[in-house]
Amino acid sequence: MSSLKLRELACSFNGVTAVETVTLDIAQGEFVTLLGPSGCGKTTTLRMVAGLEQNSGGSIAIGETVVSDPVNGVFVQPDRRNIGMVFQSYAIWPHMSVFDNVAYPARVAGQSRDEIVRRVDHALGLVSMQRYASRPATALSGGQQQRVAIARAIATKPSILLMDEPLSNLDAKLREQMRIELRQLQKTLGITTLYVTHDQEEAMALSDRVVVMSSGRILQVGKPTDVYRRPDNREVAEFFGSPSFLRGMVREARDGAAGQRWVVGNGWSCQTQSNGMPQVGDEVDVLMRPENFAVGPTDDEAALQLRGVVRQSVYKGARYQVGVAFGGASVIAELPQDHAWTIGDEIQLHVPGSRLWCMNVKE
Ligand SMILES: Nc1ncnc2c1ncn2[C@@H]1O[C@H](COP(=O)(O)OP(=O)(O)O)[C@@H](O)[C@H]1O
Ligand SMILES: [Mg+2]
Repeated sequence: MSSLKLRELACSFNGVTAVETVTLDIAQGEFVTLLGPSGCGKTTTLRMVAGLEQNSGGSIAIGETVVSDPVNGVFVQPDRRNIGMVFQSYAIWPHMSVFDNVAYPARVAGQSRDEIVRRVDHALGLVSMQRYASRPATALSGGQQQRVAIARAIATKPSILLMDEPLSNLDAKLREQMRIELRQLQKTLGITTLYVTHDQEEAMALSDRVVVMSSGRILQVGKPTDVYRRPDNREVAEFFGSPSFLRGMVREARDGAAGQRWVVGNGWSCQTQSNGMPQVGDEVDVLMRPENFAVGPTDDEAALQLRGVVRQSVYKGARYQVGVAFGGASVIAELPQDHAWTIGDEIQLHVPGSRLWCMNVKE
């Protein structure tokens, strides 16, 4: 197991920048996920770590060893980096048995027959595939093939595990189950993992920390609860679910630099916290997530309270998703199903102050 250090990593294809200034420290045993829309540079970043792509600038260190640093002429070949990789396409060899697929990297590395048998057995056991060892790889379901690919990646005891959308080809139910298994496996092995996905729920369920990326850059790095509840900016906030924003102005900074802000808008006010340091007079966006709304008034002085009209109502089984218009703005709330909200209903809502978050409006 090793730590991973990316410094000012950059890569471009035919003069077009795919990744720029990605700087990231991953601790030994940590599970970190690159999350972002298609084309934002996740795969390119992963491939640079693996050595399948050469970075044009910056450096990569695995543990204490610098494996790529073009300015100083350092480039360690992929097969010398001791990395395990799992791809979206399972990339297992159809003409080989399950055992031979998993054994292949250890054979290439020239390990003894006994050692190979021991490692393959162990790896297949970890993904509950021992009894399929002699099957041809083609006689497996998609989920089983991906388990084999995972077993192959961990059988060589890599210092780092890289995974690029490994669950994206599986159906929704299996994907959720595999998430849980993958996380357990990673914890059992304590293996440093860099994972790539465009699925926000997957990223939050699996990771110690999430790296939100856009256009080749990092927008924010944080624990799942941080990037979800305390986003640095609106772009990060919008990446998760269907948030609502109300534009307001800071009227009072209650406890100095890092504390509460009293924000006033058109027909509402609230007290909320922020990552940045919005000053009195600054324009801010107040973030509210659908699950933070409650029906009715409240005597919580920090709460944002609003009265409006239902413009849209969708029954979602567990909850109603209700679009509410008020004073020229609109919000989306998820409300308990005990009342069937219909278009035209008058409604009063509030969001407790502790559930609000505000962000400076970008210039
Ligand atoms: N081999 C390549 N040649 C040219 N452009 C590429 C190549 N690989 C990736 N790109 C471009 O780099 C950008 C980032 O791609 P990628 O890292 O695959 O994004 P993601 O994995 O986040 O979807 C995209 O604009 C993509 O078109
Ligand atoms: Mg990709």
